[in-house]
Amino acid sequence: EKGGYDHFMQKEVFEQPESIANCMRGRLVLEKGELVLGGINEYSQSLIHAKKITLLGCGTSWHAGLVAEYLFEDICRIPVEVEYASEFRYRNPIINEGDVFIAISQSGETADTLAAIELAKSKGAIVFGVVNVVGSSIARETHEGAYLHAGPEIGVASTKAFTAQVTVLSMIAIKMGLLRGTISQSQFQLLISELNQIPKKVATALKNNDQIEALAEIYKDAQNFLYLGRGNNFPVALEGALKLKEISYIHAEGYPAAEMKHGPIALIDEDMPVVFIATQDDSYEKIVSNIQEVKSRKGKVIAIVTEGDILASSMADYSIEIPKSHYVVTPLLSVIPLQLLSYHIALKRGCNVDQPRNLAKSVTVE
Ligand code: F6R
Repeated sequence: EKGGYDHFMQKEVFEQPESIANCMRGRLVLEKGELVLGGINEYSQSLIHAKKITLLGCGTSWHAGLVAEYLFEDICRIPVEVEYASEFRYRNPIINEGDVFIAISQSGETADTLAAIELAKSKGAIVFGVVNVVGSSIARETHEGAYLHAGPEIGVASTKAFTAQVTVLSMIAIKMGLLRGTISQSQFQLLISELNQIPKKVATALKNNDQIEALAEIYKDAQNFLYLGRGNNFPVALEGALKLKEISYIHAEGYPAAEMKHGPIALIDEDMPVVFIATQDDSYEKIVSNIQEVKSRKGKVIAIVTEGDILASSMADYSIEIPKSHYVVTPLLSVIPLQLLSYHIALKRGCNVDQPRNLAKSVTVE
């Protein structure tokens, strides 16, 4: 059942080239310049003409929503809010007839997300679902949606569901951008071609497994970790920190790198490993100076860098390469080494990676 792997989490991390390909299969047809989401149909006009989109989720699914916020704003020029379903439902939120929501959930059974959907629907909102489990409560309660097609996720820590969520949300954003005229046909073609290359690039990123296992040996006894990123890699930093917390029980925090100087920098000393997502996009130079700030305070830097990188990697104590990609799809690659790092650290600490303490795969109570 684990297909030759030692753990479900390991299997699910390593099968991401296939799960992401499955998620795009029959939807993204590069040669024809086609991007079709069959499940979004009757209500597609409300999505295309939305004045605002609210994304709902919990945990890792909320992080996927944060990545999507950058995409919808940038590609579709639509204002976006990303809400923890649990906060939203108890806040007397402002919901008007026809407002557009997208609920994100692996299990499709998360109680808070389900309750937030019911609240939105009761006020006349249109709710789309981005769900993995077919026929689940959230799949049934939403008006329309797009399944992840990632296959069953059994490890409690969500991995392949996250990359599939980001893939589906990217496909929705790119398609909407074309239909709204906020991206050109050639930008559309470029973005779908970038998405299409992701499975192959994820496979390349996974080849650094042994290097990451060796790093895990070095840092397995750390008591704290900081994860920093900017732009759409900021939510990836949150996700990396969550993965480490939940399966290795090491305290970890994710922050936007620029926020470091507003507080967390006080934590940095020679015992503090800081994981930077330092890929070569618009914020690269800024990230490089953030690395400098950590190094000058004797922090230990692990940098996730674009292959061939020289500057950030020369400043870091250790660097892990990922293939070069358009910034829109980078989170699908930058999260891979973070999943592997948490997996190896947890194993070396003797933790049960598939069933971490106190956690359940689907949270059906609030
Ligand atoms: C983290 C994790 C949880 C879930 C959250 C939402 O690894 O698994 O944070 O992401 O409980 O679950 P779903 O996506 O099933 O609604």
